[in-house]
Amino acid sequence: MYKGILHTHYLVVTLFLLIYAIKTVLLLSNKNDLLTTFSKKTKLFEIIVSFLFLGTGIYLTTQLPLGGKFDYLFWIKLMMVFGSIPIAVIGFRKHNKLLAAISLLLITGAFGLAEVYHKRKAIPKDTIEIASNDGKTLYENNCKLCHGSDGKLGMAGAKDISVTVLDVEAIKTIIMHGKNAMPAAAVNDVQANAIAEYVNTNIKGH
Ligand code: HEC
Repeated sequence: MYKGILHTHYLVVTLFLLIYAIKTVLLLSNKNDLLTTFSKKTKLFEIIVSFLFLGTGIYLTTQLPLGGKFDYLFWIKLMMVFGSIPIAVIGFRKHNKLLAAISLLLITGAFGLAEVYHKRKAIPKDTIEIASNDGKTLYENNCKLCHGSDGKLGMAGAKDISVTVLDVEAIKTIIMHGKNAMPAAAVNDVQANAIAEYVNTNIKGH
């Protein structure tokens, strides 16, 4: 479910950006008649895409573990998206090139930020505040948000790790490198090992 919505979100955001970019290019190159025709022809499509964009975005936000490490990027992204909308509306209505360009820049920036947010792997090791090497503490700090204390929470599409069949090594690899929607944890080798051991003995099979 989560993954499907995530992919739909990416698709509609891309379509949304495409429509937007075409309209901005037409406006910037003074092709006002073409812009009017294009806007009319794509109106219904644009409404559908916008609805899907917002709907999937809202759903994904509700699935976001609060207090995650990348929260600030997420909020900047959200502000950029919502900031660009009124600017675009005014820009296109008044045929103001500067506003239209700013708006496209904002929304493209938000898209780029979302990519960074998604692709970004672990924070550099020396920024880790937690000095602890205790598996339980590390688990609570790095994994509980998505997996819950018992491993069953399933936030942000997280798998139920109480039923995992992975061994310590495989769990450690996922912790260090992440997997699909799961980001790599900002922990060193010893810490990753401690978490993997903790998951293997206290969560797996419980
Ligand atoms: C941002 C949410 C998030 C956080 C934080 C997170 N995970 Fe995950 N985890 C996921 C998702 C999503 C998957 C499913 C990945 C896939 O297979 O597509 C997953 C999968 C796993 C799996 C694989 C389970 C299986 O049987 O395939 C393990 C093990 C795991 N996580 C352990 C951890 C541990 C340990 C931590 C803490 C260091 C952690 N996760 C932190 C989201 C998260």
